[in-house]
Parts: sequence; C-alpha cells; structure tokens
Amino acid sequence: MPAQRSNGEALSMMSFLDCTVIVPNLQRQGHMTSENGFIIHRPERLEPMVVAHRGASGSAPENTAASFSLALERGADAVEFDIHQTADGRLVVMHDETLERTTDGTGLIVEKKFGELQTLDAGAWYGPGFAGERIPSLEEALSIITPRAYALVEIKHGGDIYPETEGRIAAVMAAHPEWKGRAVFIAFDPGILQKLREIDSGLNTGLLTADPPEEYLDVAEEFGIQSFFPRWEKLKDESVKLLHGSGYTVHPWVMDREEDVKKVLAMKPDSISSNYPGMLRRLLRQD
Ligand code: G3P
Ligand code: CA
Repeated sequence: MPAQRSNGEALSMMSFLDCTVIVPNLQRQGHMTSENGFIIHRPERLEPMVVAHRGASGSAPENTAASFSLALERGADAVEFDIHQTADGRLVVMHDETLERTTDGTGLIVEKKFGELQTLDAGAWYGPGFAGERIPSLEEALSIITPRAYALVEIKHGGDIYPETEGRIAAVMAAHPEWKGRAVFIAFDPGILQKLREIDSGLNTGLLTADPPEEYLDVAEEFGIQSFFPRWEKLKDESVKLLHGSGYTVHPWVMDREEDVKKVLAMKPDSISSNYPGMLRRLLRQD
C-alpha cells in the first residue's frame, strides 16, 4: 500500500498560496472531447491536466463536497477521491477505512449503515468553518464533479472485503450513463479493475503503482488496464516515454512542493496531481 499523504498536511503556507480562482481549463486545452483524456494520450496537448487530490484537500477537509467545490474553483481538470462500502452496500467517499481521523465517529465504515454515517461531521476536524460537512456518497461526489471535470475514483478494496462492490459500483454508473465518460476508476489491485470491466467494458480504469510503473506493463496488459497512475517519486523520464510508447497515459501523484512539480513537468506526463490544485495551475501559467 502507498504511504499516506505525501507532505501536504504540514504546509499551511501553501493553502494561502493555493488561492488562485480561475475556471477549469478543460475547454482551453481541448481536454473536453468525446475521448476521455485520462485514457487517450494526446501528444499535441500543450500542458498536462491538473488533478486535485482528495479535492483541494490542502485547503479544505479532504474528500468532502467543500474540497471538491474548491478544487473546481481553483481550476482542477479532475478531482481524485477514495471510496469504501457501508454495511448496507452503499458506496461512500473517504480515504481511511475507519472514521476516527476525519469524522466525529468511531469504528469501521463497513460496519456502519449509510444512514448512520450521514449523521457524522466530516469537516470540523479540519477547521470550525467546515463544521457540518457530511461524508459524500459516490453519487453525490460524481454529481458535483463531473459537470465540470473528470472524476478519478480510487477503489480502496474489492469484493474480498466489501461484498459485491464491483457490481455495486457498476450499477451506480449504469444508472447514470452521463458520468461514464467523465470517470476513471483507479486501484492498486488490478483484479478489482479487471472485474469492473468484465461487468461493464465501458468503464475506464487506471492502475496505481507505488514501484516503478514499467514493472507493471505485463500486469496492465494481462488485466486489461487502460492507464497508469504511478507514485511520482518512482517515475523517470524513460518510464514516461516507455509507457506512452506502449499506448498508456501517465498520471503521477501527488506533488505539493513546487520544485517537485517542476521535476515532474519536465517528464511530460498527461496529468499532475496535488492537494493544492491552484498551485499547479499557477505553475502551468508561468511556463
Ligand atoms: O491518487 C493516488 C493516491 O491517492 C493514492 O494514495 O493514500 O492518497 O489514496 P492515497
Ligand atoms: Ca486516493
């Protein structure tokens, strides 16, 4: 499993610097096409897409409606978030399996019913101004994000832990075909993604990797994965070239320091990701 957030939580100054408010650039750079830009590599694209990790989570409580809305305001082309499954089979947005760190509840999500989770506060831990934020459902998150940006949905566990979860995710998407072209499902476990596409081959997938991504080229082919989401520290210039040459898009995560962003930009990935999407947008404008 990957390390927890790279280094954003301590960077309070960054929140101040991340305050640029501009419209998303999906139209400007031709990102909004009938092709999903996370799956189709377009070498003519002048700049990478901006991904807000757990929303604008350096400036608002992660994985909440507030952090998603702020990410869109700050120019994100895509918003990443994480999902888990409740005891009654609903899909909810949270990073951890447990409630303690980001809500006023306790225990495991999988042992709670959706209604119980809706009574919890998911914003006050971050700051009093965010008290009253709720744990979003998958449907709520997609409703907020997809009209203006792509949604990158990280599936934290498969059917071994969350019964029939791949089928439940596919059912949510089947009920809302308008979300399909705007969503990419990502996971470290390629088996989850393979199962998802066995249920619905129209769903887009990306493999998360914590090791050099080129080591997973065979896995990607075997499991029918469509794109790569490597940990940026393991990415090299040659890795990006190799993955592009093999027909995959490359989406490194998560950079909160400007010097790291600049290093990654030089590798020409298809997107860049941060807890501070406004900072990414500002750096792209300076280029
Ligand atoms: O975008 C990938 C990244 O979110 C994986 O790590 O722990 O933040 O979910 P984590
Ligand atoms: Ca994640």
